[in-house]
Amino acid sequence: MQQQARAWKKAGVPVAVVPTMGYLHGGHLSLVVRARKAVGPRGKVVVSIYVNPTQFAPTEDLKKYPRDLSRDKQLCRGAGVVLVFTPSDKQVYPEGFSTYVVEEKLSKSMEGASRPTHFRGVCTVVAKLFNIVAPDIAVFGAKDFQQASIVQRMARDLNFPLKVIVAPTLRERDGLAMSSRNKFLTPDQRAQATVLNEALHEASATVKNKPASAYRLKEQIAAHIATRPQARLDYVEFFDPKTLEPVQSVKCGTQMALAVFFGKTRLIDNATL
Ligand code: PAF
Repeated sequence: MQQQARAWKKAGVPVAVVPTMGYLHGGHLSLVVRARKAVGPRGKVVVSIYVNPTQFAPTEDLKKYPRDLSRDKQLCRGAGVVLVFTPSDKQVYPEGFSTYVVEEKLSKSMEGASRPTHFRGVCTVVAKLFNIVAPDIAVFGAKDFQQASIVQRMARDLNFPLKVIVAPTLRERDGLAMSSRNKFLTPDQRAQATVLNEALHEASATVKNKPASAYRLKEQIAAHIATRPQARLDYVEFFDPKTLEPVQSVKCGTQMALAVFFGKTRLIDNATL
């Protein structure tokens, strides 16, 4: 990969990377479309597929994380990806590996509070991918809003010479955000999982004409989530989309994010209200 990256660089070919953990769906493919648009007809799009162990806690679903590499490769080929980069664990974390990248501000809340070592793993593997692929552009999905913000911050803080593009969330027809983890939902849970998108709409409608207290709105959203017997709210947060600082008064333009468990499956979603 590194050799190919150097050859492209030398020839002045623009390169975009779409980092993924595989089990690709329409959401990933929309990131590829965005990447292709960004690099133009002369450019190359690389998709990386690597289920990164350091971003999973020991209690999480690393072993169970869905994988289907041959299908993924086929989808990539069909989407005009020139190279699918699938490093091995040994390549990414050679024996004795002991260097990590830690973002210290944006990583503390929400996903970082629920999954304390998650963003250290994400930043480390993404920094490595940036060094190996040496892209001009990297495309991340807005579904992982906090992740995208942290990667943008990391790229700026550590002087990675690339542009991070955040592309919109793709949804199923009933509004559920596309995610590889949706596969784990039972039919009953799948039907109830639309509650995340409903909650985003409910909050938007509530603050449309006048601001609302974050405390009250959290109670309102929690009550809505509780109408689905299989859903268990992990967190709902209202915050400034630039700083990720929580707000007390929620209004149009405030960012909302939530995480909801269905059994062991944890789904996240977010929107600008
Ligand atoms: O969003 C993901 O799939 C992962 O967190 C990423 C960015 C590929 C890093 O492993």
